[in-house]
Amino acid sequence: MAFFLAVAFIYIVSLAVLLVLLEASRRRRAAKDDKLPPGSLGLPFVGETLQLYSMSPKAFFSSRLEKYGEVFKTQVLGCPCVILASPEAAKMVLVSQAHLFKPTYPPSKERMIGPQALFFHEGDYHLRLRRLVQGWLGPDALCALVPDVEAAVASTLGGWEGRVASTFHTMKRLTFDVGVITIFGGRLAEHVKEELRSNYFVVEKGYNSFPIPVPGTRYSRAIKARQRLGAIMSGILAARRANGYLGDDLLGTLMRYRDDDGAALSDDQVADNVIGVLFAAQDTTASVLTWILKFLHDHPKLLEAVKAEQMAFYEENDGGRLPLTWAQTRRMPVTNLVILESLRMASIITFTFREAVEDVHYQGFKIPKGWKVMPLLRSIHHSPKFFEDPQQFNPARFKVTPRPGTFLPFGSGVHACPGNDLAKLEMLVLIHRLVTSYRWDVIGSSDAVTYSPFPVPKHGLQARLRRAPTVSADPDAAPEPEVALAPAAAAARTA
Ligand code: HEM
Repeated sequence: MAFFLAVAFIYIVSLAVLLVLLEASRRRRAAKDDKLPPGSLGLPFVGETLQLYSMSPKAFFSSRLEKYGEVFKTQVLGCPCVILASPEAAKMVLVSQAHLFKPTYPPSKERMIGPQALFFHEGDYHLRLRRLVQGWLGPDALCALVPDVEAAVASTLGGWEGRVASTFHTMKRLTFDVGVITIFGGRLAEHVKEELRSNYFVVEKGYNSFPIPVPGTRYSRAIKARQRLGAIMSGILAARRANGYLGDDLLGTLMRYRDDDGAALSDDQVADNVIGVLFAAQDTTASVLTWILKFLHDHPKLLEAVKAEQMAFYEENDGGRLPLTWAQTRRMPVTNLVILESLRMASIITFTFREAVEDVHYQGFKIPKGWKVMPLLRSIHHSPKFFEDPQQFNPARFKVTPRPGTFLPFGSGVHACPGNDLAKLEMLVLIHRLVTSYRWDVIGSSDAVTYSPFPVPKHGLQARLRRAPTVSADPDAAPEPEVALAPAAAAARTA
């Protein structure tokens, strides 16, 4: 009996000790998980805003990455943030735990673009709008768009010929024109397009200015221009309704949409999304196009390889007399590698922004509810762990598919870019026209970078465009490709 009591006693004591140890370990783990990531929140409210704005984002983030590792905290513009610089962390925020993080933008920026634009939203509204936009930017629509993109490229390069100009500003004109064609088809009267353009550029200038609502500031001028854009959009919607034909374009798709209960989108929802898409499509694509011109200019051997690939299509198209086709744009492997490497090197979306909707625990650190979270896409693209000799422009590296989650120029998950194929199409068509018909001289140094807000070579890459010696500007000697055909006729030719 005594023996059994002793065994029971030892058993109970061992169990109690085990429970105490387990609880202590749980508390230690919880305490560790409650630890904020390393880094500095800087001065109260101001945080590290001054440091970020006084150096380039690249220098700001890389110095902290070196000091603290791939997860660290900072505070910018009054917002405490956790910066995450690994593919696993980016996947957690954008894909696997995306429900714990919501899109977040300063209210002034939401107001400027329009609060109903899809990228400010989540859930059902976001999903419905995204399907509409994505559907309109899919292969069928893009296939029909090739002649229009080619016409826009031809007109942009024609206007640049013989002049020194900022490549970035020239590319912005191009991407605005392509955005307008994508959204409004070919149906926008020239004076309405000009009104849209002039007001849009005022909004864009104010978008990144400090939101001081005092007359005369960039911000208040932008707010006024945004109101005018709203009025222009109302006029366009009214005209389409009066016409009885809503249009076979993104605007028509948005206007025709009905949800399961038969409800249409409001005019404000349509307008905010049109302006949102225009906004998302323009500077992003223009920045990458500018980098492509610089990279090709700086790598003459590569330029020759791209030229050889593109001249084959030029010949196939009867010396440029016939327009480029969608099928041809699918057969440009060398040019495609150049585009992928340009997207990696330029990494124009340095990071994306989200906000934690509850406390999130990641790798032993706590990301408190309400804090901003920034997956650093550029750092992943420029890490020697995933891209050997990352500062070297080497398109051949993309002959091997990068490790999953390490190449995210268009983001990932529910908010990934629906315009990526259109952006790539613009790049292919521009490169085709540029290398087959033109040469360009970069003026001055092009190595410094400015942020506007996306990184672009200083002064937007000043360059002079000239006709290639073998391609005559004389229309009788070498007629322009048939890109001036009416879009529908041209689309029929390429189908
Ligand atoms: C090289 C050019 C482009 C780049 C690098 C780019 C990059 C991106 C990235 C990284 C995102 C995700 C942002 C996030 O997760 O917070 C995004 C979203 C978006 N992009 Fe692009 N983009 C480009 C061109 C375009 C074009 C041409 C269009 C439209 C015609 C477009 C429309 C959009 C839209 C509507 C969203 C929001 C999607 C959503 O919230 O569901 N983008 N883009």
